[in-house]
Amino acid sequence: MRHASRTVRVALVGFGNVGRTFVAHLQGSYHDALRREGVALRVTGIATRRHGIAIDPRGLDARSVLRQVKAGRSLAELHRGPSCATSRRFIETVPADVLFEVTTLDPRRGEPATTHVRTALKRGLHVITANKGPVAHALPSLRALARRRNRLFLHEGSVLDGTPVFNLVERCLPGVRVLSFRGTLNGTTSLVLSRMEDGRSAREALREAQRLGIAEADPILDVDGWDAAVKGCALAQALWGIRVPPSRVLRTGIGRITRGDVRRAARSGECLRLVVRGARVGRRARLSVRPERIPLADPLAGHEGDSALVLTTDLAGEIAVVERGGTIDQTAYALLSDLLTIVRSTRGAKR
Ligand SMILES: NC(=O)c1ccc[n+]([C@@H]2O[C@H](COP(=O)([O-])OP(=O)(O)OC[C@H]3O[C@@H](n4cnc5c(N)ncnc54)[C@H](OP(=O)(O)O)[C@@H]3O)[C@@H](O)[C@H]2O)c1
Repeated sequence: MRHASRTVRVALVGFGNVGRTFVAHLQGSYHDALRREGVALRVTGIATRRHGIAIDPRGLDARSVLRQVKAGRSLAELHRGPSCATSRRFIETVPADVLFEVTTLDPRRGEPATTHVRTALKRGLHVITANKGPVAHALPSLRALARRRNRLFLHEGSVLDGTPVFNLVERCLPGVRVLSFRGTLNGTTSLVLSRMEDGRSAREALREAQRLGIAEADPILDVDGWDAAVKGCALAQALWGIRVPPSRVLRTGIGRITRGDVRRAARSGECLRLVVRGARVGRRARLSVRPERIPLADPLAGHEGDSALVLTTDLAGEIAVVERGGTIDQTAYALLSDLLTIVRSTRGAKR
């Protein structure tokens, strides 16, 4: 195995399901993947809302931070140096090269995540996020800021977790314009509807999604279609540079769907799924979220927590990407994949 010739310092703002899973993998498979790129990672800081803030320029021990939050103890007990009371101050001072923004989704304004990203970029850090809020609300200005600072702002995990969507379009489809898209972009509702097909209750299935760490902190954002709407807006921003406020997306959730509805769809060889649709119409984007009956042979008719996206393009026909399973590990991988993009693009560059 290649010897690590370079240390990359990373800090996390937000340490919930995604942040903890990422840090847990740093001790095993991610360590090896980074080593293969000649890189050793040092986690120099973690900031949360209620679990404290810790900075240690020499590096926080992954096992200790995970043990600390599992035991319900504050991360502040691991902090070294001058006290740091707010996330903003944390972002302004933590000794890091890359900031991961993995705080809770705010669908209506994308805050404080957008401010976190902006503050870090202004400071000259690269930023990686799985939070779709900043992408839906502010992608063009954040990208412009990153360009001015010669840094990267990457967000592959914000739609379809670790399955490539933004990278696919940007890197693998040169010259192509996406005309429209449709997708099952919310794994929680796919899991709930899939479990209802098996005769389980929606409430029970939602609890399962929470146990798996794939539901939003407030699962109403999944059930009512908010999460899916923000993902549609993130795609409209990235694909077309068009900002649609999530509140303007025509949105119907799955809250009124009964097991009878699910059974009737199954009898006709179909399944019910929450579908996001987007189309570019001149300078505008038309976006909607609603439950639809889908033929079982369609790529969107996945099982359990599967998610999928079908792009209709001008030059390359229809392209479908499917994420099987949709686990928290796949979201954590999105952070690693963006990190490796930064590692590769800055190889040989002076920091
Ligand atoms: N879970 C998934 O499968 C998944 C998939 C794709 C994308 N995402 C996105 O990834 C992000 C994180 O998801 P998650 O499941 O890890 O959420 P989570 O478990 O609810 O964790 C959110 C974390 O953010 C922290 N936080 C909230 N506001 C903060 C603030 N102002 N300053 C500092 N920390 C703050 C919370 O602090 P406390 O610990 O003190 O509460 C918590 O540690 C969300 O935006 C979500 O939409 C999640």
